[in-house]
Amino acid sequence: MDFQFTEEQIMIQQAARDYAQRELIKDVIERDEKAIFPTHHIKALAELGFMGMLVDPKYDGGGMDTVSYVLAMEEISKIDSSCAVVMSVNNSLVCYGIEKYGSEAQKEKYLRPLARGEKIGAFLLSEPEAGSDATHQRTTAEDKGDHYLLNGTKNWITNAASGSVYIVIAQTYPEKKHKGINALIVDKDTPGISLGPHENKMGMRSSDTHSVMFTDVKVPKENRIGDDGFGFSFAMKTLEGGRIGIASQALGIASGALERSIQYSKERKAFGTEICNHQAIAFKLSDMATRIECARLLCLKSAWMKDNGQPYGIMSAMAKQYASEVAMWVTTEAVQIHGGYGYVREYHVERLMREAKLTQIYEGTSEVQKIVISRYLIKD
Ligand code: CAA
Repeated sequence: MDFQFTEEQIMIQQAARDYAQRELIKDVIERDEKAIFPTHHIKALAELGFMGMLVDPKYDGGGMDTVSYVLAMEEISKIDSSCAVVMSVNNSLVCYGIEKYGSEAQKEKYLRPLARGEKIGAFLLSEPEAGSDATHQRTTAEDKGDHYLLNGTKNWITNAASGSVYIVIAQTYPEKKHKGINALIVDKDTPGISLGPHENKMGMRSSDTHSVMFTDVKVPKENRIGDDGFGFSFAMKTLEGGRIGIASQALGIASGALERSIQYSKERKAFGTEICNHQAIAFKLSDMATRIECARLLCLKSAWMKDNGQPYGIMSAMAKQYASEVAMWVTTEAVQIHGGYGYVREYHVERLMREAKLTQIYEGTSEVQKIVISRYLIKD
């Protein structure tokens, strides 16, 4: 067993840390308050190669491994999860989905600009009545010979307004249930697409989330990913990798809250000494650090398994489920350690707590992760 990072992995981690601690920190509170999309930061992250980190350089990607992705996501998320989720959806759902399962023409047309970060992608699976229950897709992609006709509504779509390349999961053969679903690449400027209002979220307010409505949207047949009816399987396989991204985001939120709690408890004095010297605080710091380390090991193990061609579905679900629970618990403790200061914007930990909550909900709730894990355990 080798727990040593390579020089390249350490460099990537450092580059992400430098950018987050030097640049993202400057306007993170204002962007959160005013729900401003981080356009200039996404451009800078693209220049660092972080918008297409995992993509092969032959398609203009960074050619980095998934372990490096975990390290970068953790560092970015310590400061700003909104940037991290834009990065995560683009990398592990949209770029990965097209690179792994798309045609050569789709890679040329869509993957290159996504990997360069010139375009941003969105993954449209959830619906008003199909969030966790993803097999029950109501959006239809009717086969019209040389094209599909898309109709329906998608909900809670990250990057819906900032993105311009959508992967849409839709039902073509309702009688075949999940085996009749297709995944289509859709240009956002296609006639018939409209967006619902900006969702006024509790956390990750600097990333944009909307509903997306499709009314008789024509999508060329060549934009279907994989064989006819592959869409549900595509979504499930792609989400396995997506969960590594969100798990790493949760890890970063937790470790960011711990770093702030250590620093604060070494400065703040009460009852004649720095509060870190009181067991009430020391025990909290110790439990926070231990749980974070467990979450980190799950993230890195699932990334390593993916990089080494091993089945990683159970491990990424464990990482996502556990890291998000840890993030929620750690950030709540961090607010408690900060006392009244923890409850105001300037100390960041209340924002981290709001962000942690979303990691338990999107890309599959904690409950869905447990379903996924248990299915792996009982399958023959
Ligand atoms: N890879 C390939 N196939 C898979 C699979 C996987 N990982 N997991 C399941 N399948 C297949 C099954 O084998 C089965 O196929 P067969 O009938 O041919 O055997 C089929 O899919 C249906 O599986 P189940 O019977 O297990 O279906 P279910 O309805 O009981 O449960 C579920 C499925 C696991 C709950 C699934 O619906 C799920 O993962 N839901 C959560 C969806 C989700 O994560 N949504 C988040 C939206 S994306 C997002 O949030 C992005 C963003 O913007 C941030």
